[in-house]
Amino acid sequence: MELCGLTLKNPLVLASGVMGTSATLLRRVALGGAGAVTAKSCGPVARAGHPNPVMVDWGHGLLNAIGLTNPGAEEEVDLLAATREELAQMGVPLFASIFAGTEEEFAQVAGVIAGAKPALIEVNISCPNVRDDFGTPFAAIPETAAAVTQAVKRAVGEIPIAVKLAPNVPDIGRIAAAVVAAGADAITAVNTMPGMVIDPEAAQPVLSNKTGGISGPALKPIALRCVAEIAKTVDVPIIGTGGVLTGRDAIEMVMAGAIAVGVGSAFWYRGENAFELIAEEMKAFMMDNGYATLSEIKGKALR
Ligand SMILES: Cc1cc2nc3c(=O)[nH]c(=O)nc-3n(C[C@H](O)[C@H](O)[C@H](O)COP(=O)(O)O)c2cc1C
Repeated sequence: MELCGLTLKNPLVLASGVMGTSATLLRRVALGGAGAVTAKSCGPVARAGHPNPVMVDWGHGLLNAIGLTNPGAEEEVDLLAATREELAQMGVPLFASIFAGTEEEFAQVAGVIAGAKPALIEVNISCPNVRDDFGTPFAAIPETAAAVTQAVKRAVGEIPIAVKLAPNVPDIGRIAAAVVAAGADAITAVNTMPGMVIDPEAAQPVLSNKTGGISGPALKPIALRCVAEIAKTVDVPIIGTGGVLTGRDAIEMVMAGAIAVGVGSAFWYRGENAFELIAEEMKAFMMDNGYATLSEIKGKALR
């Protein structure tokens, strides 16, 4: 299939953050059948992340607050370039992911990371805008989402960008329209949903950071609704992400309007060969239901 001018052997994309940035891990995911892989988000400076515990399986999904652990863009660019070359030999495009606290920082990180020539740069705008008094994430307001998109687009030249939206906004269609007008080539939807899990015996939140992001099964209906709203509003490719564990989940994502499907927490639930399993299940569903191509399915539940 085709995404922003890239050829992917299947529509399944490793979601950012789940398998880090190390070439070894990303290569394992590529060997395990991913159509493309996204590296963990990288920012302007090195961050150690939060102390343990940083993740909990609470029965209906995962809650994580890793704290955007990363080595910083300058440190990461060579590693990404080497990983990109290795994956290219397997026919698997590498997507980079970036975050920052201001528009200017986003442009600076994007410029540095563009040096690794990733196939696409995902722009994680779920982080708080440090200039905003209340630390409102860039993804929450159309104007700030658009400003970041425009700054990144200017900094990266020809490299396509996918802006990754947050699910906890009142009107995700408006945010999508704003980032597309500002130059986004694609949209990734969605990031995790803020949540909390409490240990009642200890009478305290389980995560050291107290709150975290919900991913996995509990996120799927939210992600499907977001993808559907975005697909009804804009006409760029959507990487539908959130709670895809099976081929049926992936098909639902495409029926909501996505053309590619992000897969993250499935590694926790289905193990190393999650991609292979999901791809096989997608194929089986399509055969059983008389579909020959993904474009026949895309947006079918919206008509
Ligand atoms: C452990 C973990 C780390 C993550 N780190 C990042 C990250 O660095 N950048 C980002 O944009 N999203 C990050 N995410 C969000 C995922 O990319 C994805 O949007 C989310 O988990 C929903 O998909 P899933 O239900 O398939 O996991 C992370 C998710 C998890 C579970």
